[in-house]
Amino acid sequence: MTEPLTVLGLETSCDETAAAVVRLDASGKVEVLSSIVGTQIAAHAPYGGVVPEIAARAHVETIDAIVAEALSSAGVGYGDLTGVAATAGPGLVGGVMVGLSFGKAVALARGLPLVAVNHLEGHAVSARLAADIPYPFLLLLVSGGHCQILAVEGVGACRRLGSTIDDAAGEAFDKIAKSMGLPYPGGPALEKLAQGGDPSGYVLPRALLGRDGFDFSFSGLKTAAARMAATVNTDAERKNLAAAVQVAIARQLSDRTDKAMAAYALEHQGAPLRFVVAGGVAANGAVRAKLQDTATARGFSFDAPPLAYCTDNAAMIALAGAERLALGISDRLDAPARPRWPLDEAAALANPTHVPGRKGAKA
Ligand code: KG4
Ligand code: ZN
Repeated sequence: MTEPLTVLGLETSCDETAAAVVRLDASGKVEVLSSIVGTQIAAHAPYGGVVPEIAARAHVETIDAIVAEALSSAGVGYGDLTGVAATAGPGLVGGVMVGLSFGKAVALARGLPLVAVNHLEGHAVSARLAADIPYPFLLLLVSGGHCQILAVEGVGACRRLGSTIDDAAGEAFDKIAKSMGLPYPGGPALEKLAQGGDPSGYVLPRALLGRDGFDFSFSGLKTAAARMAATVNTDAERKNLAAAVQVAIARQLSDRTDKAMAAYALEHQGAPLRFVVAGGVAANGAVRAKLQDTATARGFSFDAPPLAYCTDNAAMIALAGAERLALGISDRLDAPARPRWPLDEAAALANPTHVPGRKGAKA
């Protein structure tokens, strides 16, 4: 690759309609020319969570305008693009189809290569949008739908070391926040409430703490916190409970990450040890601070994306696509939208489901 790649990214897998233009040059320099995120929070708020049908319709209604804004604020036209990258899963399939179909149409009309991007690969590269973080690195991916630790060895080469056996960390934040009467999305609301709170008065379960392996579990914590929320009366008590919940989630994330770091360091002896946390929950200040301490104690560098690239965005999708295009990898125009699409398919097949009744791991 000698010419820079200028890639349009599209993200519609959940409740954000996003488009971005990212440039990747031959030296690996990344430039985000634009990143537009249209959030649907107001449309879903009355229901306390994302309603898939409402999300899919809202994506259809807004994607034209969002893409137009991404192109104009980047100062480029379709003719300046060298590729299109669209999230093809995992996610709410009605929404995924909107962005993926839009991407296919642009690719077909303009004769551009299409990359059908795994949303999780987008999160995996999100810290690279703003900092020079070479492969390999250890990644903690913590969002509303996902909670996993991965060894990211290179482009598209992720090995899953652990994942949640029930809820994702963001889901735990959201559900506990809901039981405390906080608005959707609960994570940021709970963080705000927790500010200045004293966590010491509430003893929450320490799931899997100190146990072997790198898996997570948040359901016990969720149930206990919901029970406590029902007994809380004053604003000060609510604040303290929120602080205790935040500490408990951060503690579990850090305990599992610490163990994974020890294993990763053994496998990567002599190589630089890098740690990245990404996904919506990486926006949480207490979680970031705790993980930063964990990384420092284990001799790992610490990186987290800027807040705007923690939560869902299309710049990370454009970069994941550009990195594949730089290696000559693209997808056919019949690439399917995939509701479930594990990053590390081998790990998912070996451990297909943690949740009874589900057909295979979501991710
Ligand atoms: O990465 P993301 O935008 O979407 C998924 O791919 O899931 O993550 C959204 C999740 C939600 O659960 C939201 O509550 C959580 O990230 N989140 C936070 C914070 N900001 C977003 N959780 C805790 N503290 C925050 N500041
Ligand atoms: Zn996400």
